[in-house]
Amino acid sequence: MADLMKHEATLLDIKNLSIAFGGLKAVDDLSFSINQGEIYGLIGPNGAGKTTVFNCITQFYKPDQGELRFRNKKGDIVSLTSLPTYRVLEQGIVRTFQNVELIRELSILDNVLIGAHIDYEKTTVLDELFNTGRRRREEKKQIEAARRALQFLGIDHYRLFPAGSQPYGIQKKVELARTLMSDPKLIILDEPAAGLDERETVELADEILRIRKEYDTTILLVEHDMQLVMKICDRISAINFGRLLATGTAAEIRADQKVQEAYLGVDA
Ligand SMILES: Nc1ncnc2c1ncn2[C@@H]1O[C@H](COP(=O)(O)OP(=O)(O)OP(=O)(O)O)[C@@H](O)[C@H]1O
Ligand SMILES: [Mg+2]
Repeated sequence: MADLMKHEATLLDIKNLSIAFGGLKAVDDLSFSINQGEIYGLIGPNGAGKTTVFNCITQFYKPDQGELRFRNKKGDIVSLTSLPTYRVLEQGIVRTFQNVELIRELSILDNVLIGAHIDYEKTTVLDELFNTGRRRREEKKQIEAARRALQFLGIDHYRLFPAGSQPYGIQKKVELARTLMSDPKLIILDEPAAGLDERETVELADEILRIRKEYDTTILLVEHDMQLVMKICDRISAINFGRLLATGTAAEIRADQKVQEAYLGVDA
């Protein structure tokens, strides 16, 4: 098989990925690759293995088999399977969760600041202890970045409220803002439209397109809202029972017989 990572356009190459839980093959010999700058959709019925793929990319789960290669912030090709989760983040991969994960008692601003990349090489333990000028400058820079992300998503005016006091749609935006803090190369979104109403979903589509442009990044998303997927994704892979059904453009996926069969009885 050709080595896709040789093409500079390839950002993430997933090859023959497999993971089983007990006897259940949650992901089964799955391969697809994402190009820089793409909005890429991963779709499939409930339990198809979508979130598991995300957990394998971030190394939250260690795959049983397969290769996951990523072109990192420095332009180096790294094998993700050799890294612990926090190192995956350093390479430039961030995610949101299927169930929003925020610290409810902390302010919205603080929740976004959690996503900041702490540059330990620049800030020393002494800086931390004595709250030096360098440390304060670093903090100021991060607050500015957080507020830029919040402004970008139109929720900066809520920044001092506890995250848990806000409606679900706002909480999802806070999670999205947090991904923008670490200069990400790849943002992974697990069901960003789940729980949103129609107006919020239309807004989200626009936000995802704007994020790609303004933050010059690539987006991989799992989503059940087919209208959203078909509208914004450049390419889509459809899976069922952990196996690839088809990869293609929205039109190609919509016309694919295997995909239609997998969604029988479901609006596709
Ligand atoms: N940690 C785990 N232990 C055991 N089984 C798991 C684990 N994580 C996932 N599974 C199983 O693997 C399969 C795939 O689950 P996964 O959550 O990846 O599906 P999904 O495509 O994200 O579904 P949904 O659309 O409902 O979110 C399911 O059968 C699930 O029960
Ligand atoms: Mg899932």
